[in-house]
Amino acid sequence: MAPLAKLFGEEEINERVKQLAGEIAGTVPGDVMVVGLLKGCFVFLSDMIRALDRVGASPEVEFMRLSSYSLEKTRSGQVHLIGDVPTDVSGRHVLLVDDIVDTGRSIAYARALLEQRDVANLWTCALVDKPSRREVEVTLDFIGFTIDDVFIAGYGIDYAERYRSLPYIAAIK
Ligand code: IMP
Ligand code: MG
Repeated sequence: MAPLAKLFGEEEINERVKQLAGEIAGTVPGDVMVVGLLKGCFVFLSDMIRALDRVGASPEVEFMRLSSYSLEKTRSGQVHLIGDVPTDVSGRHVLLVDDIVDTGRSIAYARALLEQRDVANLWTCALVDKPSRREVEVTLDFIGFTIDDVFIAGYGIDYAERYRSLPYIAAIK
């Protein structure tokens, strides 16, 4: 088992998600369609949509599944669409949500795909940003936490498909 070092605890995450929901609700229309990138976003998004509801927004929720990693702690660099949003997004206000933005390839790919379908507006949100790893330029409108180049897991985020169930975010040593 890889050694874990706690980076963001449960309370800190809860507090940040609540703040972020306030920022989002102050910017994005209440009838926004949230599009989460699976699988990493699912825990964050489940907290986020309820936090949004508490501040008066009631988003629709859809998912898109991308594949960019092999089952290892490595980066393949190639992004594939393995599950698409099943509904028509044209004319919609969309908030695209990912767990981590690293090279930027995944969110850039998803953004381009949605923009081809004539969304009305698109905002981006990442729970964790790793700007020092960026290879593709992306604009992130809402960011939970910014970290250095460390590999993390927990709160839905995996390390070789493990640790998604960890209630906090840890650095993998
Ligand atoms: P990008 O396409 O390089 O920006 O990578 C995005 C995806 O890589 C994220 O959605 C994560 O699923 C995964 N990823 C990047 N960094 C980490 C990490 O530190 N831990 C676990 N997954 C990561
Ligand atoms: Mg991901």
